[in-house]
Amino acid sequence: MKRFLPISLVMLLAGWFSETRAQHAEQASRWADSLLSRMTVEEKIGQMTLIDLGVVAKGKPCALELPQAIDNDKLRMALQRYHVGNILNTGCGSGAMTLENWRRIIRTIQEENQAINRHGISILYGIDAIHGANYTLGSTLFPQQLAQAASWNPELVERVNRASAYETRAAGIPWNFSPVLDLGRQPLWSRFFETYGEDVYLATTMGQAAIRGLQGESLSSPYSVAACLKHFAGYSMPLSGKDRTPAWIPERELREYFLPPFAAAFNAGAATTMINSGDISGTPVHVDSFMLQQVLRREMGFKGLAVTDWEDIYKLSDIHRVAANRKEAVRMAIEAGIDMSMTPNDFQFNDLLLDLVKEGRIPESRLDVSVKRILLLKRQLGLFEQTTFADSFYTAVGSEAHRKLSYDAAVASITLLKNENNTLPLENTRQRWAICGPGAHSMHLLNGAWSRSWQGTDTTYRHEGRKTIAQAMQDNLGDQLRVLPAFPDATQLKKTMRAADGIIVCLAEKPGTEIPCNIDALDLPADQKKLVADALAIGKPVVLVCTFNRPLIITEEVEKAAAVLYTYLPGDEGGRATADILSGKASPGGRLPFTYPRSSGDIVHYDRKHTENMYSDFSANGYRPLFDFAHGLSYLTHVAYAVKVSDSVLNDSNFIQLQFTVLHSGSLSGQLTVPVYYSRAYASITPPVKKLIRFVTVEREPGHSNQTFAFALRKSDFSFINRRMERVSEPGPVTLYIGDFTKQITIR
Ligand code: NOJ
Repeated sequence: MKRFLPISLVMLLAGWFSETRAQHAEQASRWADSLLSRMTVEEKIGQMTLIDLGVVAKGKPCALELPQAIDNDKLRMALQRYHVGNILNTGCGSGAMTLENWRRIIRTIQEENQAINRHGISILYGIDAIHGANYTLGSTLFPQQLAQAASWNPELVERVNRASAYETRAAGIPWNFSPVLDLGRQPLWSRFFETYGEDVYLATTMGQAAIRGLQGESLSSPYSVAACLKHFAGYSMPLSGKDRTPAWIPERELREYFLPPFAAAFNAGAATTMINSGDISGTPVHVDSFMLQQVLRREMGFKGLAVTDWEDIYKLSDIHRVAANRKEAVRMAIEAGIDMSMTPNDFQFNDLLLDLVKEGRIPESRLDVSVKRILLLKRQLGLFEQTTFADSFYTAVGSEAHRKLSYDAAVASITLLKNENNTLPLENTRQRWAICGPGAHSMHLLNGAWSRSWQGTDTTYRHEGRKTIAQAMQDNLGDQLRVLPAFPDATQLKKTMRAADGIIVCLAEKPGTEIPCNIDALDLPADQKKLVADALAIGKPVVLVCTFNRPLIITEEVEKAAAVLYTYLPGDEGGRATADILSGKASPGGRLPFTYPRSSGDIVHYDRKHTENMYSDFSANGYRPLFDFAHGLSYLTHVAYAVKVSDSVLNDSNFIQLQFTVLHSGSLSGQLTVPVYYSRAYASITPPVKKLIRFVTVEREPGHSNQTFAFALRKSDFSFINRRMERVSEPGPVTLYIGDFTKQITIR
């Protein structure tokens, strides 16, 4: 029998906890004030500085000597003369190193710093461990963020981030520049794959899961890292699609789409945020006090650290040209509300800020506000007590358990887009298949950017024991598979296909991110288009596997292919996961976290307005994506039924319970997702045709089962931003959609 604590005792305990939390906060604040009162201006500026490892390592900045080692003279100079408090990265992302090398480097830095820093303030080290500890050789590489979103499985995303935090902190690094909470609504953007997709609710849910995973119960745990929400805010939708070019986002749209995932992640306790490098409507966010003070601090109540992105203060004068010179740029960014400068390759920021303070143009009290946030973060991370933990704490780096998690995450995210006549799986077949295409033979294409290097373009990248799609298929099909080169010539193709029953063509996009990965159109590269055309010309079934950074246009190819599997960037276990799905050992669990465009210029999102919908007489306005948001087939079947709502009227004080049952069956284990949408009949702001409000994802063993779900829906769940920039939930009729069912409710 369950025993419940009496309600009065629960309230007493809750009160006691919040009181102790308040007391701790008060104590920490007094501690920071006292430390600040003993620091010089130079020391404070040092705490506000984040330099790249290249500045203190052997070799040239952005081109380190391998294996990386600290240059003691350079390090001492940074620590003694500039009192630098924070270091990042691996020499501009130029290369990865072993765990031992990392641990040695971090220990050297911390020990040298302890000998020099008279207050015992440790160094805060930060890195982009965005799909695993990607700069540590031998670490587990998980599917990239967009793939994780395609799993629609927050619990899985939490576990992936937990493992990622573990492997990052193992290197002695307690700060992770992740997750990206920019919405993926511009598919041309080179960082589309780094997002959780186009939907506000999905990205919000995944973002909160990532924070729980990365930060755990306590930041001082040897297995937690401080998360850094990127890139506050509005970075992901440059008008031209090119990275770091202007975004035109009116305030209402900013509040409706781009801010909520950040607000929710701050509520979930995210410790830090990185500021958007771009400009919105002509104002670079790094000088925008409306964004950095009004929205971030006052409205969202964020108390943590706001760091710039790479060189972004200098760029205010050098590129954006809103500042007359770099000194003005420093003044403007600090006045706007920046706490820490990712300078990161020199000390000009320090000299200029010092001058500004000496000239009285920036008051020292302004530095105190930022430095206090930095000191409090270091304290929360336990860095005043212990900067690194013994090797024995981290026996699971690159372990079988983490590897299995990466595999499970890849299976859960890979999305079956088309499956004519149940071509897939190629289960127990006596058929013979051929495989080709650039994606078939490569590990670096499965992982994408941020994999052992910034751009992830090392074609020789291999992780012992991890398989390409072709290798894993060979394990599964043995002699029944004929492995062809990436681009077989037409004669070779014809000859092989005489004896084969079908061909798997693995398409892939060259890895990359940020400005180096800008493109002009979403076209599939010409050589890959030709490869598919040649394969189709043979007249036997063609299965396409697409490993893309963003949705390249495959409309013609999809029309003629028998089956299409979309892998996103599935990571080191992506080859095995793909092969197991193709050959029927696993069921694809993913659903698209974005709307797949039919052509390059036809970018419409699922939460489109009615003017973007299909009209019979103006069909060119039509919403007709190649695949809808949340599309994803499965080898399992499920149906939602018995949909009930507890009430049909929603007002300010009640809630309604939405209940439905999902019947599932299948001969494999796997996961299934049921999205729940709503639409308003009308509103003062043109309402979307439909909008995701909830979803359930269930993991199931083989067989039949059913499960009932119930959600409470409140009036606020149906809110939107009105013309006065207020979040409102206007009265009116609303339709709920669950599978093939609809329910009508009324908001009063
Ligand atoms: C620039 C990128 O925009 C950002 O996402 C990353 O965290 C920093 N560089 C540090 O590498």
